[in-house]
Amino acid sequence: MNVLGIETSCDDTAAAVIKDGRIIKSNVVASQSDMHKKYGGIIPEIASREHFTALIPVVNEALEQASLTYKNIDAIAVTNGPGLAGSLLIGVNSAKGLAMSWDKPLIGINHLEGHIYSAWLEDLEPDQNAGFPIVCLIASGGHTDLILMKNHLEYQLIGKTRDDAAGEAFDKAARVLGLGFPGGPEIQKMSEAAKDELDPLPRPEIKASLDFSFSGLKTALVRRAESEGFYPMTDSNGPSHYQTTEYSFAFQEAIVDCLLRNTKKAVSENSAKAVILGGGVAANSRLRKRMNDIMDVPVFTPRPGLCTDNGAMIGAAAFFNLQNGLPAQLDMDAVPNLRIGLT
Ligand code: KG4
Ligand code: ZN
Repeated sequence: MNVLGIETSCDDTAAAVIKDGRIIKSNVVASQSDMHKKYGGIIPEIASREHFTALIPVVNEALEQASLTYKNIDAIAVTNGPGLAGSLLIGVNSAKGLAMSWDKPLIGINHLEGHIYSAWLEDLEPDQNAGFPIVCLIASGGHTDLILMKNHLEYQLIGKTRDDAAGEAFDKAARVLGLGFPGGPEIQKMSEAAKDELDPLPRPEIKASLDFSFSGLKTALVRRAESEGFYPMTDSNGPSHYQTTEYSFAFQEAIVDCLLRNTKKAVSENSAKAVILGGGVAANSRLRKRMNDIMDVPVFTPRPGLCTDNGAMIGAAAFFNLQNGLPAQLDMDAVPNLRIGLT
């Protein structure tokens, strides 16, 4: 079964053709980060306008790279939430148009479920190689969720951020340190040269809960930057190279520690058999390495290009939903605050 997966929930316009939920026949991502870079963050109006112009060319490219025509597509899947309302609408309405004119079934996929199923695209087969339950840490620009996957398509939300998402915290810290957008990859790159010489930044913890909180960490960084005189930044002052590298490392280490602490706790409280890492922050090399080092259950982490937003993960999640009998939903809508695993 060939599924065309479409993803436009944030600032990447993406389409992919996935065979049987696991085989990537094509995976095309048109990133808008250059457009948003100059504003230091995502501007929703620009994001939806860019999706509008990029989506059909990206879908055509996905078909071409897969050496298929629309006739070989068995179903279309599109992210219908959570995400930016305008961005989701472009994806959902375009997918409806394609489904109608090509006469194909259409289903809506939860973006977070997509991030989870990207682990199946890597031949990791977490269900076969470890078994359920699996703790999924999905950390991105919009979410930091701990989801207990009890079986295929069976989720329970067991932890979430109470304020900023981990990726959002990286993006804000990068601005304080004079680095570009998106902040996570920039902070990771700067950290590599650090000597780890600063007093650590705080690791906020919410007692008796698996929830996260990152806004205090960001404020602590701002306070330290102010006291060292490089923030707010002006034409004549800014962080030295030493301050940028050391604070990048200190900030990354604090975020990674919080993510590891709660994930480890979630695994032990639920006797989980494995961990799946997903979302843009899961592309972070320090998080990937330290998660593997401390866990005594297998950690399944897709390659970095499948952690950030893509259409392949939507095609993979769609396959498992279709197999489970999810009916076509031509009347489905974009749901910007769609949740997962709420009981
Ligand atoms: O999943 P994603 O592509 O889009 C959302 O659904 O939000 O995640 C984007 C987020 C951004 O905040 C970005 O800074 C972060 O993921 N990110 C990283 C890395 N690569 C992307 N954070 C830390 N380290 C990275 N290498
Ligand atoms: Zn995402």
